Amino acid sequence: MLSKVDSCTVEGIDGFVVEVEVDISNGLPTFNMVGLPEVSVRESKDRVRAAIKNCGYSFPMERLVVNLAPADIKKEGTGFDLPVAVAILIATKLIPEGAAADYLISGELSLDGRIKPVKAVLPYAICAKQKGYKGIIIPKENAKEASMVKGIDVLAVKNLSQVVDFFSGFKQIEPLKVDDQRVQKDSRDRFQIDFSEVQGQQYAKRALEIAAAGFHHVLMTGPPGSGKSMLAKRLPTILPKLSFDEAIDVARIQSVIGLMESDSEGLPKRPFRAPHHTISDAGLVGGGSRPAPGEISLAHNGVLFLDELPEFKRNALEVLRQPLEDGCVCIARANAKAVYPSLFMLVAAMNPCPCGFLSDASGKCSCTAPQIQRYRSKISGPLLDRIDIQVEVPKVEYKDLSSKVKAESSSKIKNRVIHARMQQEKRLNKTGIACNALMDNRHLNAFCKLPYDGEKLLEQAVDVLGFSARACHSIIRVGRTIADLEQSKDILREHLGEAIGLRSFDRNIL
Ligand SMILES: Nc1ncnc2c1ncn2[C@@H]1O[C@H](COP(=O)(O)OP(=O)(O)O)[C@@H](O)[C@H]1O
Ligand SMILES: [Mg+2]
Repeated sequence: MLSKVDSCTVEGIDGFVVEVEVDISNGLPTFNMVGLPEVSVRESKDRVRAAIKNCGYSFPMERLVVNLAPADIKKEGTGFDLPVAVAILIATKLIPEGAAADYLISGELSLDGRIKPVKAVLPYAICAKQKGYKGIIIPKENAKEASMVKGIDVLAVKNLSQVVDFFSGFKQIEPLKVDDQRVQKDSRDRFQIDFSEVQGQQYAKRALEIAAAGFHHVLMTGPPGSGKSMLAKRLPTILPKLSFDEAIDVARIQSVIGLMESDSEGLPKRPFRAPHHTISDAGLVGGGSRPAPGEISLAHNGVLFLDELPEFKRNALEVLRQPLEDGCVCIARANAKAVYPSLFMLVAAMNPCPCGFLSDASGKCSCTAPQIQRYRSKISGPLLDRIDIQVEVPKVEYKDLSSKVKAESSSKIKNRVIHARMQQEKRLNKTGIACNALMDNRHLNAFCKLPYDGEKLLEQAVDVLGFSARACHSIIRVGRTIADLEQSKDILREHLGEAIGLRSFDRNIL
């Protein structure tokens, strides 16, 4: 007797259908699994056998073969337990043939038949919808993830008996209701921190506002204790909330590594990832023998904050270059390949020299020129070139620190940022990108006409200050964002001037 049930696995952040076929034939009782199952899948044999028995059903004492098709792709994870069990029970005629045909099924079984959560349920649900399934059967703990997808029945189950009763027609399972309110409520971003707590530092704040408005990468340089980390942590408070599609992409990545909290309300917030500088290349960009997304993908559509940038391994920083350019990272292994999106805003902070006091007026700095050179050289030119905004964060003056005047709040800054973003979306409509930082040469030619005196200024920057072509384009992009913030239709000379001022490394003033 042959039976077939559809399940799902994930490649990158996309789910694809795996057919679970079971054949029971006469012969000595054996249980074989074929179709490139990895260890965790092969072990499912014992779980499935025990779960079926402990739920009171009989396990066939015949020759049993399970095939996972397509057979040339490695199958991992524990999600095949439930579909294998269902397929066996169809083959033994406990479940009517064809009952499970309209559903994608995934779930791990415990020995007593309870169903445990699995990873990547959101990509599975999206796949089920795209492939036209009526619904998806998934563990109860993964319910909220799957219920972000509208238009399919999401059936969340607790144990094997419940699934058997459902397919046999004894008991219905109520599909989860997609709570539009919840989905729309979105990330009602509420923060404990606010920009008004940062005293002074007007120049750095302005730079972060521009960066947030155009999604530009930023590097902050300044002595210890000047508030660099403080400023970076407050960046999410001025970023616009995620659109529904952006939030789904963030949720898919979180779902793949099982990071989504089952009881979280609403869609995910804009990510803010701050990995420690001891992180490995694979941890940062993704990888491992079994491809998994790294910090840059977890920061997709959000902020990747690298504090104390020169302390990171040089290698780890170099591998950032390609994803910074492409907005995605492709991880290829001998037996697997995965593409993960990684469109993030890089925010980095560093001291100007090893002791940190180079730019300090007190003259405390004791670093020698070669020491400074060595420290700086950890950040390669090509990486620096890709950072649109490089800003100095000097020591805060006491008069600023003790000032009783409350600084501007995050919500006020955010309003300006949102307005500037709206301008960009209108202009870049139909280009497939949403913000200025993502403009390439084609977009620059189409949308960034420069005034005559602006051209002259750029000419000087390139010919006299020695800016690279990439830096020159980056100035135009930042100039466009400044114009958007100032609600100016055209880019003016002063906008470009401010953008040049925001490339302090290139101007060699540090
Ligand atoms: N501009 C500022 N306004 C208010 N407090 C500040 C400011 N700069 C620094 N501080 C205080 O100093 C502490 C250290 O700042 P931090 O951001 O960690 O400095 P950095 O990262 O530049 O070394 C902060 O937690 C805060 O209490
Ligand atoms: Mg710091």
